[in-house]
Amino acid sequence: MEKIAIVTGSSSGIGFETALALAREGYYTYATMRDTKKGSKILDIAKKENLKVEVLELDVDKETSIKSAINKIVLDKNRIDVLVNNAGYFLVGCLEDLSIGDLKAQFETNFFGIVTTIQAVLPIMRKQKSGIIVNVSSVAGRIGFPVTPAYISSKFALEGLSESIRYELEPFGIKTIIIEPGVIKTNLFASLKKSINPNSAYKEITEKVINGITMMAEMGTSPVEVARTIIKAITSENPLSRYPVGNDAVMFLEAKKSKTDAEFENYVKKELYS
Ligand SMILES: NC(=O)c1ccc[n+]([C@@H]2O[C@H](COP(=O)([O-])OP(=O)(O)OC[C@H]3O[C@@H](n4cnc5c(N)ncnc54)[C@H](OP(=O)(O)O)[C@@H]3O)[C@@H](O)[C@H]2O)c1
Repeated sequence: MEKIAIVTGSSSGIGFETALALAREGYYTYATMRDTKKGSKILDIAKKENLKVEVLELDVDKETSIKSAINKIVLDKNRIDVLVNNAGYFLVGCLEDLSIGDLKAQFETNFFGIVTTIQAVLPIMRKQKSGIIVNVSSVAGRIGFPVTPAYISSKFALEGLSESIRYELEPFGIKTIIIEPGVIKTNLFASLKKSINPNSAYKEITEKVINGITMMAEMGTSPVEVARTIIKAITSENPLSRYPVGNDAVMFLEAKKSKTDAEFENYVKKELYS
């Protein structure tokens, strides 16, 4: 039976590599993106390698776009085996410099878009009594860092959601997996959304952290590694609930586990500002 996969945010980075990796694994893959004009590169590769990749419009900020994409897939294929919730962006700025609108927009893309997409695929997954939901969180879904409270809280929310629905969906044969990349070399940093007030009281820490993030991004892990981890997770008989990706992610998570809160805060300051 043909297996069907959907990836959101497939125009670049982790989503692009994951859509290709799924197609190479034999899945008929819907590489969804909000601007399908960005789909030519993945389609060229798919053609050369004879992969089953279909580019489909899906903007996670728009409920109608999510519903019409998922409805089309269900009508065409009558099944969905894997959903990778990957679309997202990175808003930086200290809390006092962020408007409620900035925060709501961050949550719309990084959290509510995922909620709506999961709700849209669940009826077919429950009917077929199988399915895998992969949520691309971040090491920032388990650790707070300064200057990124909007992004961090959207990923913490995603972790909480994922942990909770694992229990709800397990009886229906549906697995939920969280992917926690560290710093990955993608467009995420070039397309950072910055909410920085030139007269901000937080100018110094904001600049320090943005410079730190930019430097870390240069040395980031390849998005191919994340795609590889996603394939490993979905092909495993009993997937773990979480998969960190990258040495930096493992290092931060280990430090968080082994240190007291105060020790860990000092460690983060040293890693980010020095
Ligand atoms: N890079 C990292 O260090 C890192 C670390 C941990 C977690 N992550 C997570 O990994 C995921 C993928 O990011 P990436 O690093 O691969 O960055 P990326 O190359 O910038 O990819 C982000 C993708 O999300 C899409 N997107 C943004 N808003 C969207 C919307 N409203 N509807 C549909 N698609 C939308 C982008 O589409 P457009 O081309 O149209 O903008 C793009 O395809 C994100 O959830 C991010 O938080 C990244």
